[in-house]
Amino acid sequence: MFARRIAVIGTGYVGLTTGACLASLGHQVVCGDVDPAKVERLRRAEVDILEPGLVELVREGMAAGRLSFVVGARAAVAGHEEGAEIVYLCVPTPMGVGGVADLSTVESVIDEVGALLQPGTVVVNKSTVPVGTAQRTAELLNRSDVSVVSNPEFLREGSAVHDFLNPDRIVVGGDQQDAAERVSALYARLGAPTVLTDAASAELVKYAANCFLAMKLSYVNAMAELCERLGANIADVTEGMGYDRRIGQAFLAPGPGWGGSCLPKDTSAMLQVADSADFEFRLLRATIDTNERQRQRIVDKIRLAVTGRRGGSLSHLRLGIYGLTFKANTDDLRDSPALAVAALLRQAGAELLAYDPAVRADTMRPELSAVTVVDDPYLVAKEADGLVILTEWPEFRTLDWPRLATTVRAQVVIDTRNLLDKDVLGRAGFTWTGLGRN
Ligand code: UGA
Repeated sequence: MFARRIAVIGTGYVGLTTGACLASLGHQVVCGDVDPAKVERLRRAEVDILEPGLVELVREGMAAGRLSFVVGARAAVAGHEEGAEIVYLCVPTPMGVGGVADLSTVESVIDEVGALLQPGTVVVNKSTVPVGTAQRTAELLNRSDVSVVSNPEFLREGSAVHDFLNPDRIVVGGDQQDAAERVSALYARLGAPTVLTDAASAELVKYAANCFLAMKLSYVNAMAELCERLGANIADVTEGMGYDRRIGQAFLAPGPGWGGSCLPKDTSAMLQVADSADFEFRLLRATIDTNERQRQRIVDKIRLAVTGRRGGSLSHLRLGIYGLTFKANTDDLRDSPALAVAALLRQAGAELLAYDPAVRADTMRPELSAVTVVDDPYLVAKEADGLVILTEWPEFRTLDWPRLATTVRAQVVIDTRNLLDKDVLGRAGFTWTGLGRN
């Protein structure tokens, strides 16, 4: 394998993982970020995202002289003595007006480094971008001697390093075959199936996969509701479905709805893409609507469990909330279903005390305005009229439930992740309500 000279622009989840993992595969990597303080921290191997294995890889890469951090895109591209051969764009593409991905950061990076690139450089788009961005990037670059390819990333937060180094597939799309092959060769050691295609198809794979995953989850959440009405058990239904290899067991757990920084953004962007292609994507619209409705459904379940009647008032009731992040093993609060449910509960007049292993009580974030965060999981339960599990942190299973039972006002648990053992809770004196079970 050839060790390549690589520049990575942006050190968020995708950029930092990409940089550290490419260095671990033997490449020479310079990562650039606009934030000087962040670069300073990274140079001390201080990683400010919760991501298993990432700090170790950053340390190893730096110690081996294969990974370094600089301020700015320009410095990253110029960071290799003989110039970068491959430049990864890993910058944010937030949801802009009307659900359209905002590409202004991609554009300003191109503006900044376009003229600096050596002839033969390949620019790789790793950010999730609308179909047509590779082409647009090439137009902005306006350099016939530089190629642009799309190489979408499929990593999940909380297992980013593992996902990068054990990919289900590598997808590289570009209109120049040799550039796409040079990029796919970077991952040769990983031995993953590789899809070499045109840029538009590669860009679409990412949206298509994320929207399909969202659809799978909305389907499961709807199925859980049906199970409740029919007296069936969603765990057995999904297990039975999942043994069908065409369906698979993964991504079949019901919950308070899907969230995070990717699925909501990508489903909305895909609707826009479909709209602009004059295609009415009803299935995707239903996927999103089902997810929005799920939050209200969770609130209705909580009302029923806590007050004993449908539509009962939550006003002045105190609820203990377990979990605020959008899923376990991350500290990410972006588009968290837990926070959406909390906001609805607060609107309904409930007082909310919350605990999350990754969110400290002194965290100052506007998204946390509906809750009072505490650092002690036992404090959450004090005089609570009900306890609600909103994120599937495994440590909630091992809480001292008999002790919690002595401090609450009412022994009621609403478990929106079906995380806890109903019998253990029952022995502690709690009434447990999950999803998709009678
Ligand atoms: C998602 C995709 O899974 C990745 O493949 C993709 O690369 C990434 O987006 C991205 O576009 O960058 P991520 O946002 O990290 O990854 O989170 P997921 O693990 O997919 O979870 C998304 C949401 O679905 C969370 O709210 C989670 O709690 C929920 N979920 C997931 C369920 O409710 N049930 C499940 O069985 C699985």
